[in-house]
Amino acid sequence: MRLVILGAGGFIGSNLVEYLIDQAEHQVVGIDVTAEKLHGIEGPNFEFIQADIAAAPEVADGVIEKADTVVDLIAYANPSIYVETPLEVVQLNFFENLRIAETCIKYGKRLIQYSTSEVYGKNPAGATFREDESDLILGPVTKHRWIYAASKQVLERMLHGHGLAGDLHYTILRPFNFVGPRFDYLVPAGTKGGPRVFAHFMSALLTGGPMYLVDSGEQRRCFTHIDDANRAFSVVLDSPEAHNEVFNVGNPATDTSVRELAMLMIATYTELTGNTPQNELVEISGEEFYGPGYEDTNRVPPDISKLESLGWSPRLDLEQTFRDAIKYNLDPKNNTTTMGGAR
Ligand code: NAD
Ligand code: UGA
Repeated sequence: MRLVILGAGGFIGSNLVEYLIDQAEHQVVGIDVTAEKLHGIEGPNFEFIQADIAAAPEVADGVIEKADTVVDLIAYANPSIYVETPLEVVQLNFFENLRIAETCIKYGKRLIQYSTSEVYGKNPAGATFREDESDLILGPVTKHRWIYAASKQVLERMLHGHGLAGDLHYTILRPFNFVGPRFDYLVPAGTKGGPRVFAHFMSALLTGGPMYLVDSGEQRRCFTHIDDANRAFSVVLDSPEAHNEVFNVGNPATDTSVRELAMLMIATYTELTGNTPQNELVEISGEEFYGPGYEDTNRVPPDISKLESLGWSPRLDLEQTFRDAIKYNLDPKNNTTTMGGAR
C-alpha cells in the first residue's frame, strides 16, 4: 500500500515509519518540517520530503494525489504550547488539518487521523471513555489549554460530517499518552513548561534536577507503549470495520498517578544504571509550571472494547513501557533536541 505519513518526523511518526518500512508491502512517503528523529531510519520503500504543510500546501497535495492512504499526525501536541500560543494551535490543529482532509476528499483518498484522548475532557470520576457514548466536556474559554481538545474535537466532527455526506473514508484514532523512543526532547534542570511528562522526568534523572509534580501529582494517566500503538495502527489500516469509525488507543491496565510515575521512573533508572538518583520531588501549581490558562483533568481509563473487537489488545505493561523509553534515553547519541513543528 502507498502510505503518506504527515508528521513523519515526530515521536509517533518516526516510530510508525520505522515499523512500517519493515513491511515490504508498504511504500511510505513521510513529510515533516524536520527529519532529526528519522536519523538512521532508512529503506528502499521509504522517501522523506522536508516540507511545511502550511507554507507549501502543494507539496502535500502532490503526494496525497499519488497515495492510497493518508496518515495525519501533524499537530502541536504539547500542553505548554496550548497555553503559550493558543491561536497557533487552532490554526495548525484545526485549519491546516482540515485542509488535509479536503485534499483527501478531492482525490478520494482514505484518511487516518490522529486525534487525542483529550477530547473527552473533564469527565466525572467513575466514568469510562467510550468512543460513541461519552460526552466530551471541556473547561472554560479562559482556560485556553482546552483549545487543543476543542480544535481536535471540531476536526473530528468535520470528518464525521463528511463521512455522513459520503465524500470521505476516514478513521479517527484517539491516543492515550503513548511513550517510547524519540519522545519529545530533553531539557536543562529546573525547566518549567516545555515537553511532556516523560521527557521532563527523564531530563531530571539525567541532570539531577527537580521532578516537578504539577498540582500535587495525584492526577492519573494511562500510558501506552509505542509498539502496542503501532500494532493498533496496522489493525485499523487493514480492517474494513474501521471505515468511518473512532477508536481509543490506550492501555487501561497502566492507570497511574503522575507521582507514582515519578517513583517508578526513579526505581527503573536505579535498576538500569546501578545509581540511585537524588532528585527532589517538588510540588508546583499548574499556572506556575505552564502559565495562566492551564487546567488539567484527572483522566480515567479508556474503554478499548471497540478496538479489541478488531483483534487488538495492548501487550506491554507500565514497567516495560517506561523501561524501554528510559533505556533508549540513557544513550546520549539518541537524544534529540527539538519537538519539531513549524515554530
Ligand atoms: P510530535 O510533535 O512529536 O509530532 C508532530 C510532528 O508534526 C512534528 O514532527 C512536527 O515537526 C510536525 N509538524 C508540525 N507542524 C508542521 C507543518 N506545518 N508541516 C509539516 N510538519 C509539521 O507529536 P506526536 O506525539 O508524535 O503526536 C502526533 C499526533 O498524535 C498529533 O496529532 C497529536 O495531537 C496526536 N497525539 C499524540 C499523543 C501522544 O501520546 N504522543 C497523544 C494524543 C494525541
Ligand atoms: C498530552 C498532550 O496533550 C497530547 O500529547 C495528548 O493529547 C495527550 O497527552 C494524550 O496522550 O492523550 P497530558 O497527558 O496532559 O497531555 O501531557 P503531559 O505533559 O505528558 O502531562 C501529563 C501529566 O503530568 C499532567 O497532569 C501534567 O500536569 C503533569 N506533569 C507534566 C507533571 O506533573 N510534571 C511535569 O514535569 C510535566
